[in-house]
Amino acid sequence: MTNIKTYIEEKLPLFEAHMMERIDALQAPGSLKEAMIYSLKAGGKRIRPMLLFAALETYGKKADAGLDAACALEMIHTYSLIHDDLPAMDDDDLRRGKPTNHKVFGEATAILAGDALLTYAFEVIARSEAYSPEQAVELIRMLSFAAGPAGMVGGQVADMEGEQKKLSLGELEYIHHHKTGRLLAFSVMAGALIGGADEMEKALLETYACHIGLAFQIRDDILDIEGTEEEIGKPVGSDESNDKSTYPSLLTMAGAKKKLEEELQGAQSALASLKRPAPLLEAFADLIAKRTS
Ligand code: IPE
Ligand code: IPE
Ligand code: MG
Ligand code: MG
Ligand code: MG
Repeated sequence: MTNIKTYIEEKLPLFEAHMMERIDALQAPGSLKEAMIYSLKAGGKRIRPMLLFAALETYGKKADAGLDAACALEMIHTYSLIHDDLPAMDDDDLRRGKPTNHKVFGEATAILAGDALLTYAFEVIARSEAYSPEQAVELIRMLSFAAGPAGMVGGQVADMEGEQKKLSLGELEYIHHHKTGRLLAFSVMAGALIGGADEMEKALLETYACHIGLAFQIRDDILDIEGTEEEIGKPVGSDESNDKSTYPSLLTMAGAKKKLEEELQGAQSALASLKRPAPLLEAFADLIAKRTS
C-alpha cells in the first residue's frame, strides 16, 4: 500500500505555506487575524486538504491545482470547530492540543473569527487564479452546499437537538453524514472536479466519499472514548458529558467497530470499480478508519 505518511509529509509544507500567504494577504483588524491564525495554526491534521490533493493526483494533476480549494475547505472546517467548542455548543476547553479559541480570545471574538474564516474561504476561491470562472462557481456551489444548512450546519443542528435523546440508527447516520461527511466529501469531489473526472467516476467517488465520511465520524466517536487527550488533542468523554448519541452508545463499542469496518469495505469497493488505480485514496480510507488522533 502507498505510504500515505510520506505523501502527507511531502504535501503539508506546500499547503501550510499557501494558507499563510492567503492569511497574510488579508486586510482585517489585527485582533481578528490573530484569533483566526491561532486556530488555523493550532495543529490540525489537515486530512481534508490532503484528501483533496489525493483525489486530484488520481486524475494525474499536481496538488498545486487544489491549493486554494483546500485552503478554503480547511478554513471552513476550522470555523466549524471554533463554533462547535463554544459554551453554547459542546463547551470544550481543548482543541488541537491547545485551549479553545473562546478560552483565549473570549466568546465574541471566537464567534467572529469563525464567521471570518467562513466568509473568507469563499473569497479565496472566488479570487483564485487557479480556476476558470466556471470551475470557481462550481467549487463555491459545492462548498456552500457541503457547509450549509443541507450539510454541516444542518448536521450540527440535528446533533444538538439529539442531545439527551436516544436516537435511531437512521437519525444518527443523518447527523454523521451531514455534520462530518459532507465536508469530507467535498475534498474528494473538488479533487474530482478540478481533476476532470467523468460523471460515472464522480458517482463512484461520491459513494467512496460517503463511506469515508461516515467512517471518519464513527472513528471520532470511538476515540472520544478510547483515545487519550494527548493523542486526540481534545477532551476525552465530551460526547458522554453532553449526552450525545454516538455509534458506540447505540451499537456498543464492538458494534461501532464492526460498522466502521463495513464503511471501510464500502469505500474500498467503490474505488475498485473506478476505471483507474487510486492507491492514494485507498490509503486514505485506511488511514481514516484506523487513525489514533
Ligand atoms: C474533528 O475533525 C471534527 C470532526 C469532524 C470529527 P479532525 O479530526 O479532522 O480535526 P483536526 O482538523 O485534525 O483538528
Ligand atoms: C462535530 O463533531 C463536527 C463538526 C462539524 C465541528 P464533534 O463535536 O464530535 O467534533 P469534535 O469531537 O468536537 O472534534
Ligand atoms: Mg459537536
Ligand atoms: Mg465537539
Ligand atoms: Mg467528537
